[in-house]
Amino acid sequence: MSLREKPPFVIAVDGPAASGKGTIATGLGEAFDLPVLDTGLLYRCVGVLMQKAGEDLDDQAAAACAAALLTADQLDDPALRTREAGEAASRVAVHPRVRGALMDFQRTFAEQDGGSVLDGRDIGTVIAPDAPAKLFVTARPEVRAERRWKQLFAQGEAVSYEDVLADIRRRDARDGGRDAAPMKPAADAVLLDTSEMTIDHAADAARRIVEAARAKWISST
Ligand code: CDP
Repeated sequence: MSLREKPPFVIAVDGPAASGKGTIATGLGEAFDLPVLDTGLLYRCVGVLMQKAGEDLDDQAAAACAAALLTADQLDDPALRTREAGEAASRVAVHPRVRGALMDFQRTFAEQDGGSVLDGRDIGTVIAPDAPAKLFVTARPEVRAERRWKQLFAQGEAVSYEDVLADIRRRDARDGGRDAAPMKPAADAVLLDTSEMTIDHAADAARRIVEAARAKWISST
């Protein structure tokens, strides 16, 4: 197969909340000159739209409607970055019809010419199962809670560390325990535990993993 016939070089970065996957995905986008999609923003946007409209987050039909109407220009809203938006996202993300409605958007992004980086929960397992580079980024819940607490504090959200840790544990259980596309490492994903790493160290480690995957992808027939 020539280079032109190869499927695009997609980098799938999955993992739980505050594992560092967003920063790593952004760094990989810069290192490999690829566009990056934070797929969590799609679920956050659906959750926030539902809350603004006074809808029940457990209402699958209403959530699927919101997901079907979502457009890329809605993803820049800082309101999507709040603690409440993360919780709302995780609740609407359990609905198979919401996941289905968001699938085309993600696959179209993934399959663009030249390649792409996507971060989320099910990129390596469902959205881009053939991605040549897959990472599952994780860290201990206590470490992730501290990172998220600092991030929320910097955004002006006053919340206790204990509450953030409880959020993280609840979200891990919901995201990993749901029937529709549960969060889990793809069989061929490389696991990267960032518990003992600075974010720069983690980004370097991720780049090395992807460089190796890219060399294999280039030489594959
Ligand atoms: O930034 P953080 O890791 O806290 O969350 P996020 O990546 O913005 O995702 C928010 C929520 O959306 C997650 O807890 C998941 O429930 C859901 N999500 C998902 O189900 N599938 C994805 N590909 C991305 C996010």
